[in-house]
Amino acid sequence: MALTDAVDPIQELLDAQSHVWNLIFSYISSMSLKSAIQLGIPDAIHKHNKPITLIQLADALSINKAKSHALFRLMRILVHSKIFNKVKISKDEDEEEAYSLTRTSRLLLRDEPLSFSPFALAMIDPIIADPFHNVTEWFKDECASPFFTRNGSNLFELAGNDRVFNQVFNEGMASDARFVGSILVGKCKHVFEGLTTLVDVGGGTGTVAKVVADAFSGLKCVVLELPHVVARLEGSENLSFVSGDMFEFIPPADAVFFKWIFHDWSDEDCIKILERCKEAIFSSKEKGGKVIIVDMVVDCEKQEDEGIETQLSMDMLMMAVTTGKERSEKEWAELFSAAGFLNYKITPILGLRSVIEVFL
Ligand SMILES: C[S@@+](CC[C@H](N)C(=O)[O-])C[C@H]1O[C@@H](n2cnc3c(N)ncnc32)[C@H](O)[C@@H]1O
Repeated sequence: MALTDAVDPIQELLDAQSHVWNLIFSYISSMSLKSAIQLGIPDAIHKHNKPITLIQLADALSINKAKSHALFRLMRILVHSKIFNKVKISKDEDEEEAYSLTRTSRLLLRDEPLSFSPFALAMIDPIIADPFHNVTEWFKDECASPFFTRNGSNLFELAGNDRVFNQVFNEGMASDARFVGSILVGKCKHVFEGLTTLVDVGGGTGTVAKVVADAFSGLKCVVLELPHVVARLEGSENLSFVSGDMFEFIPPADAVFFKWIFHDWSDEDCIKILERCKEAIFSSKEKGGKVIIVDMVVDCEKQEDEGIETQLSMDMLMMAVTTGKERSEKEWAELFSAAGFLNYKITPILGLRSVIEVFL
């Protein structure tokens, strides 16, 4: 081996340390994003209508001026995370630094119809993040999830008993649902065409169901949800809300839709839900009755590095807060076959998630 190719053991040690440090501190990126949203930084930059200097930003945020230097440090890491751009602007004879929005921070604006902010705040909420501190304890106890180890109840029971968290969670889901709904009706029309009735099971506050019902005339949508989510919601001519438990009964329809439901549940529970689906679409079997699922199909071979990291993180999130998991195509196929479905079709049209149609 040439001398220059020799591995420097000290350098190797330093590289390993830097790798571990990056992992240790990676939660700080999430927390910095949370501060940016809560302080309203994207909205302040947007409202300014041109790149904003630090002093102008501090003024616009009405923060304690003594903390402007901390704002500089927060913006520095957010620029590094590509949440904001740093640009040069000229002032009098001089140049000054200023901040502008990126494509990512535009999606954090409060008034942006497809804003991710409510979803980000829900996912970074301590109720969702704290169970990660209980994973080790959970590996040794009898509880169904680290969430249960921490809270003594499951996620949906806790949401039913905590009004503030229920609202944060439902708004977070609704913001993702707006995003997914807009893509579904734009790029996945064929999935819904010809249907006359659709039940959105666990459909939250009805965002996807409303987008779909409005996009396909003649389609009536029902949202089946737990009472604490839909008790006070009013439907419309083509959208209604039903309180109920999907493990017991799913109203009959041409298609049963699930977005981000199966990944919350164990294989045994998913098979029970799929059995209720079979009953629900039984009478529509001849006219193409089906189950439509929006969830991830994990593929460590095909995904880009960043994509697979997100899928694996979501899988860990499911492990920490639910009894579910993210599934590979093989795992999905096994579920469908165990529940007596004959066929399925995966359309990978939603980035890291897919639309899966399942047929009897
Ligand atoms: C991860 S959220 C997904 C919400 C919505 N589908 C979306 O993606 O925007 C899971 C939803 O399932 C609902 N859920 C949980 N258990 C349920 C049950 N047994 N019957 C009906 N809905 C249930 C929860 O209330 C929650 O709104």
